[in-house]
Amino acid sequence: MRDKIFSNNTDLVDFIFDKKVADVFDDMVNRSVPGYQTMLEMIGLIVKIYAKDNSNFYDLGASTGATSLALGLHNTHQNNKIIAVDNAIEMARKCKKNLTSKLSNFEVVCSDINDIKFENASIVVLNLTMQFIDLKKRQSLVDNIFKGLIDGGVLVISEKIHFDDDKKQKQISKLHLNFKRANGYSELEISQKRQLIENVLVTDSKETHLNRLKIAGFSESICHFQCLNFASFLAVK
Ligand SMILES: C[S@@+](CC[C@H](N)C(=O)[O-])C[C@H]1O[C@@H](n2cnc3c(N)ncnc32)[C@H](O)[C@@H]1O
Repeated sequence: MRDKIFSNNTDLVDFIFDKKVADVFDDMVNRSVPGYQTMLEMIGLIVKIYAKDNSNFYDLGASTGATSLALGLHNTHQNNKIIAVDNAIEMARKCKKNLTSKLSNFEVVCSDINDIKFENASIVVLNLTMQFIDLKKRQSLVDNIFKGLIDGGVLVISEKIHFDDDKKQKQISKLHLNFKRANGYSELEISQKRQLIENVLVTDSKETHLNRLKIAGFSESICHFQCLNFASFLAVK
């Protein structure tokens, strides 16, 4: 369904992942996030290389389940379970519905990802989710994930990022704005969504992400993909 949520004046205060958003999420994310499909393709490549037999995959902030599908449909290993977690009830519902006919070994958990105990994980993905986590909780979340990963397991993080350099930040924001315009969003839709999401989507710089991964103990972390102000990181335990 096409995203028209912000096409008229709205009286919402903050952006929330409710039924309205769940219904149009796939269209919204494709028209708002440059490189979204490539992020998913990269997850498909990563699962082939880094997954291990008899281990769990975690999809954190699963929304409608696109990442779980990329993990499940490209997996070539044996005896893996996908655990898709989202704390928004409507997203968890939609995720379950989308995965049911396509995957066999999965579980959808409606919970805060900060309360999850990660166990026997070979792949953990935070695809566009860390940016919604309280800044003070981000390091402990990555620390917990690290503890739950088996040796050689990986954490994949995709995020909107910012640049500390003002000039670079302005340049990249302008390109992102034009990406949304080119995908059919009006000035009203863009400005209303920006105002609502400002308090709930808090970006980090690329350096902050890589540093957080290092502090958690990841021996190797790289930025394996970037499109404008969106980047994906791969960290190996
Ligand atoms: C931008 S969407 C993620 C997109 C999805 N991972 C994908 O690949 O298409 C962010 C999701 O994170 C969820 N979320 C935000 N904070 C969360 C938290 N603390 N615990 C669990 N889920 C959370 C939201 O409900 C939303 O569905």
